[in-house]
Amino acid sequence: MRQNQFMKQVRPAAPVAPWLGGKKRLHPAIIERIDATPHKAYVEPFVGMGGVFLRRRFKPRLEVANDFNGEIVNLFRILQRHHQQLLDVMRFQVASRRDFERLRETDPKTLTELERAARFLYLQRLAFGGQVRGVFGVAPETAARFSLSRLEPILEAAHERLEAVVFECLDWSELIQRYDGPETLFYLDPPYFGGENDYGKGMFDRLHYARMAECLGQIKGAFILSINDLPEVRELFTRFIIEPVKLTYSISSAGGTEASELIISNREARIRLL
Ligand SMILES: C[S@@+](CC[C@H](N)C(=O)[O-])C[C@H]1O[C@@H](n2cnc3c(N)ncnc32)[C@H](O)[C@@H]1O
Repeated sequence: MRQNQFMKQVRPAAPVAPWLGGKKRLHPAIIERIDATPHKAYVEPFVGMGGVFLRRRFKPRLEVANDFNGEIVNLFRILQRHHQQLLDVMRFQVASRRDFERLRETDPKTLTELERAARFLYLQRLAFGGQVRGVFGVAPETAARFSLSRLEPILEAAHERLEAVVFECLDWSELIQRYDGPETLFYLDPPYFGGENDYGKGMFDRLHYARMAECLGQIKGAFILSINDLPEVRELFTRFIIEPVKLTYSISSAGGTEASELIISNREARIRLL
């Protein structure tokens, strides 16, 4: 791996809860390419639960984590600044279907930021497949997800890893405009083509992919983008470097399906081919 003097080694952390599209299998291939692309600012417009962001082993002097979902950004801010208080609130939570359903129906606007973060973390850790507004997903093999002895080190590690990270809650296009520069690297993990509404209505639109290709064609910085492999996607991003990657994924533990993903970029990352 080639690193430069602008990189600092950090202890990787795990995402604090599952998230749909959480890059469980693809993150090593993406991180390898990120590390092979020189940059002084690292910006993720679609950070989700940080399946790539938190797992990096090197960081540049500026890191920006963005998501249009305010619950995610609030949770990250609380993890960065008040993780002890978050743990104190989580201490009294138990994995029950009734609490899950009650919290799912609670309007986050009626809660304090700390309560909001605890609610969101609770729901995401217990929802089936990490889906947004999912159903109670506790099964014999997942029940342990809620034990405090398991949660504590995960929150600690995320807290440590998030030190000095800048959080934003903007639409991806606005974020790119704000942080573009010759030494910026963007890693984009948008909703899958065909899954535009997976993260909530009005968040993302089919038309955004064409706008994204247009916008990425004009930036001064470097980008790496991961997305599902479809002919429409290949056509939209045809002017860039497109690498297909095969992997098996599933949202339940009962086996998975083979899927193809694309890693698209505008700079040649010097790594061994998969
Ligand atoms: C595929 S997921 C990212 C998963 C992430 N890599 C992880 O490891 O958890 C896509 C993310 O994009 C966010 N999103 C959807 N529309 C957005 C928009 N217009 N601007 C910024 N983020 C958006 C969703 O909230 C979701 O977290």
